[in-house]
Amino acid sequence: MKTTLLSLAAVAVLMIGCGEKTKDAVEAVTETAANVVDTTKEAAAAAAEATKKTAEKTAAVAKEVAEKTAAAAKEAAVAAEQKAADAAQALKDRAAAAAAATKEAASNAVEATKEVASDAVEATKEAVTATVDSAAGAAAYAKCAGCHGANGQTKALGKSEVIAGQSVADLETKMAEYKAGTRNVSGMGMLMKGQAASMSDADIKAVSAYISAM
Ligand code: HEC
Repeated sequence: MKTTLLSLAAVAVLMIGCGEKTKDAVEAVTETAANVVDTTKEAAAAAAEATKKTAEKTAAVAKEVAEKTAAAAKEAAVAAEQKAADAAQALKDRAAAAAAATKEAASNAVEATKEVASDAVEATKEAVTATVDSAAGAAAYAKCAGCHGANGQTKALGKSEVIAGQSVADLETKMAEYKAGTRNVSGMGMLMKGQAASMSDADIKAVSAYISAM
């Protein structure tokens, strides 16, 4: 630009120096100046265009960066939300498991207590029954002791077997047979029939258990 203007001035000086041709010179200078103005205008327009494009590009990049940042933030928020939900679910599951375990433990304890109580009731019942049976057996044996001995160890009238410790089943069977008159081992079956005749099945059962346990 500067160079161009200097050139114009030189041309003008030259032309002025030439005298006659002053008019042509002025025209040439004017034309050249117009050209310079045009060129300058174009350059300015190009520069403006370039600046505009750069600005647009910058804006586009900035927009893209902003969009990416927003998307990343959104993703992070979603991830954080998911994590929180997972943690809450895990806590919930743990609480439910603990509750279930407690419930089961309580129910087991109740069940165990019930069983213990029921066992105790059963054992008490059995003990009472055994005591009653044993009392009944002892009472029924009272009239036998004279011949078979207080401990069932005596061979009655020197004829019978020792009855203490025989199995309950054997004793019941033998007593039932004496009662029916079908047993006679040493010719004294009738004597034993007399002993057994008035005894009920329950009496026989009780005395058999008593003798067996001697
Ligand atoms: C008066 C004596 C006498 C009395 C009382 C008596 N017994 Fe006997 N008992 C005998 C004689 C004797 C025999 C053997 C009978 C035979 O020959 O089978 C016998 C046999 C038995 C036998 C079978 C033994 C065996 O293994 O063969 C049994 C069981 C028995 N007696 C139970 C009783 C019971 C229970 C009573 C009481 C309710 C009783 N006896 C009362 C005399 C007696």
